[in-house]
Parts: sequence; structure tokens; C-alpha cells
Amino acid sequence: MSFQSSLRCLWAGAALCAGASLWAGEVEVLHYWTSGGEAKSVVELKGMMAQRGHTWRDFTVTGGGGQNAMAVLKQRVLVGNAPAAANIKGPAIQEWAELNVLTSLDAMASFERWDEVLPKVVADQMKYKGRYVAVPVNVHRVNWLWANSAVLKKAGVAALPKTYDEFFAAADKIKAAGFVAVAHGGQDWQDFTVFESVVLGVGGPAFYDKALVKLDRAALNSDEMKKSLEVFRRIKAYTDDKSLGRDWNVTTEMVINGKAGFQFMGDWAKGEFLAAGQTPGKDFTCSAAPGTDKAYTFNVDSFAMFQLKGWEAQKAQGYLAYLLMGKDFQEKFNLRKGSIPVRLGMPMDKFDECAKTSSKDFVATSASGTLVPSVAHGMALSSSQQATMRTVVSEFWNNDKLTVAETLSKLLAVSAPKQK
Ligand code: BGC
Repeated sequence: MSFQSSLRCLWAGAALCAGASLWAGEVEVLHYWTSGGEAKSVVELKGMMAQRGHTWRDFTVTGGGGQNAMAVLKQRVLVGNAPAAANIKGPAIQEWAELNVLTSLDAMASFERWDEVLPKVVADQMKYKGRYVAVPVNVHRVNWLWANSAVLKKAGVAALPKTYDEFFAAADKIKAAGFVAVAHGGQDWQDFTVFESVVLGVGGPAFYDKALVKLDRAALNSDEMKKSLEVFRRIKAYTDDKSLGRDWNVTTEMVINGKAGFQFMGDWAKGEFLAAGQTPGKDFTCSAAPGTDKAYTFNVDSFAMFQLKGWEAQKAQGYLAYLLMGKDFQEKFNLRKGSIPVRLGMPMDKFDECAKTSSKDFVATSASGTLVPSVAHGMALSSSQQATMRTVVSEFWNNDKLTVAETLSKLLAVSAPKQK
């Protein structure tokens, strides 16, 4: 056996080199992937772990966007019963690492050259004080507008809207034809998902970065932000009145089943269309949310690894981390999840047109400086800032009596210096 493969055995639970069951252990994994498309993606991962004899234990907490999962995780870690891995993203990785509960993956990362196969913006988020503590599995694009092709055709909408003027003209036609123009769910993270796409489309990526990522006071209090709130509120008139509490995937079903024309959502929605047997470009379309085709809001799912006692458990955890970064997993998982591989240089030939566009745009926007982190999906702000922003925006969406001016001043209040 070569020196390289011996080293790999160390973290791959020796399953690559010895009989699988000999070194097998259990991994308990916290995630919130419970919708049809998400569940199919997790099955890929479970299967790959099982092939090496490891046992997978689901620690599933339902609730899109993962807010519920994070609350439950906190309770578990506080009583000293952390899972092996948890789907934790963005700055929250740093917050967990600061508590000294995460394990270092640096030996594996340097041997497997993660720095070379990951975009820097992603690698940086996975590290705490320069050391890897989390493993990224994908890149989701958030600024998408999904559409049901048949509904658009019946409503006489010939082209996908590129601006908000075109969008509202199309939405009027869809409404007049008897459909719900915009399918929208009823949770604050879904409101913010729409809102950030509107801010990006109305103000552009530099403005988005200033206002929502840097929380710059002048940007938060600007005409662009005022206009963004106005456009956001205007969209509400095109939603139905049963959205309260509705999950994102039930909302996507409205587009899949031809009840609604559009949905603003990240490309985990594509996982639902695919799981329902639909084909992009035929049954449904993916296009950038109005005004955002030259920009990209990214959302990277990643697994932070917790410190574990017990050698078998550590080996199974090591194998999971190794697997997640592997080419085979990155392809199979992302083909179902709706996202694209985060690993650079992956062949995209098996992926559909939406994924190919996403991959091309990820590279192009990264070069042009118009690649921005999704705030709604935990890529930019501390957990507490994010929660406050979400509440303010959601209150504005849900309460028509709240004025734009009142909401602007509440947003300004969030702009205290960023917590580290
Ligand atoms: C996650 C996705 C997930 C979606 C819906 C996003 O924040 O990154 O993986 O599918 O929420 O729960």
C-alpha cells in the first residue's frame, strides 16, 4: 500500500483499505432535508456510508431554512450530547467553533488539498482561525424565479420577465387568467428569500452588499431600499390568502401542479420539480429573479463536525467528511438537491440547463465581483443580526399598516457594528 493510501485510511475509517465492517461506526447527522427532493439527496449519502459499513442515524428537525434545527442543536450540545455532524452554514460555523465544540479537519483537508479544489470564498467560511472545521457539499443559487410553462402559456406570457415592470405585467396576465400569480409560503425566511432577490434586482449587487451584508447605514436608509420595500410589498398582491404557515415545498407544489405561475426560491425548489418527474425548459423554467441575471446570491450547505468521544465514532465521522468532499458524492447528491457541486473542476455533463447556467454564472459573477452571499440563508450575518432582519422584513410583509418609513428605521437599528 502506498504512503498516500495509508494516510487516507486514517480518516477514511480504513474502509478504503480494510474490510469495511472491521472499522465501522455510527454517524448521527443533524439536518432538515425532509421534502421530496431533499430526502432523495440524503438517501444518496446514507447509501454511500452504508457501502462502507457505517450506520447512519438521522437527527432530523423539520423546518425549511434550518431555524428549528439550529434551536434543537443548541439544546443537544448544551447537555453534552452533540451529533457527529450538523448542517451548519456561513458565519454560524464560526459561532459554533468559538464554543470549542467542533473538531479540526485540517489533516484531511491539507492532504486532500481542499484549498485547491474549493472556491476561496467557500473555503474561508469552512475555517476557524485558519483550520477547517466544516465540509461544504454544494452551492445553491438563491436568486431564481421558477415558473410553470403551461400556466404562462395559457396566460399569454411569452417571455420570462427581466425587469419588475415586465414581471408585474406578466403577473397581471396570470392573475387575470385565473391562476395564483406568485406562490408564496408563510415563514419569515421565505419572506426574506423574496426580499433579498428584490433588493438585488432593484439596487444591484454593490447596493445589496452595502445594505444587507455590510449593513451600511446610508444604504439601509436610501431611496433604493425604499424602492425595494415598495416592490416587495407590491408582489404580495399577487399571492393567495392561504400562505400563512405554508412550507416552501408545498408552495413549490402549487407551481408544479399548475395552480400558480411563479415562485421566488432558491434552487432546492428544482429538487421538487425533478422529484415530481418534471423537466426544466419544458414543464418548468428557471430564470434569474428580475434584474438579477448578472448577479448571484450563493448559499452553501456544509456540515460542521463535532468533537466526539470513542474511536469508532471518530472514524465514521472522518469517513463522512472524506466522502462529502469526494467527486462521486458531489455529483450524485447535487443532481438531486438542485444545487451544483462546490468542488471546482467537476464535469457538468449530467446536469440540467438550470445547473449549467448556475455553474457558469457562479464562475462569471465570482470574476466580476457580483457574487454575493445570501442573507436569508445564513451566509452573511451573525445569527442574531439575521434573526432581527428577518423579523423586521416579515412584519412588513405581513402587516400592511406598517409603513416603508417605519420599516426603514427598524432596519437601521440592526446596523450596529457587526458582532464577531
Ligand atoms: C438550505 C437548503 C434547504 C432549504 C430549504 C436552505 O437554507 O440551504 O439545503 O433545502 O433551506 O429547507
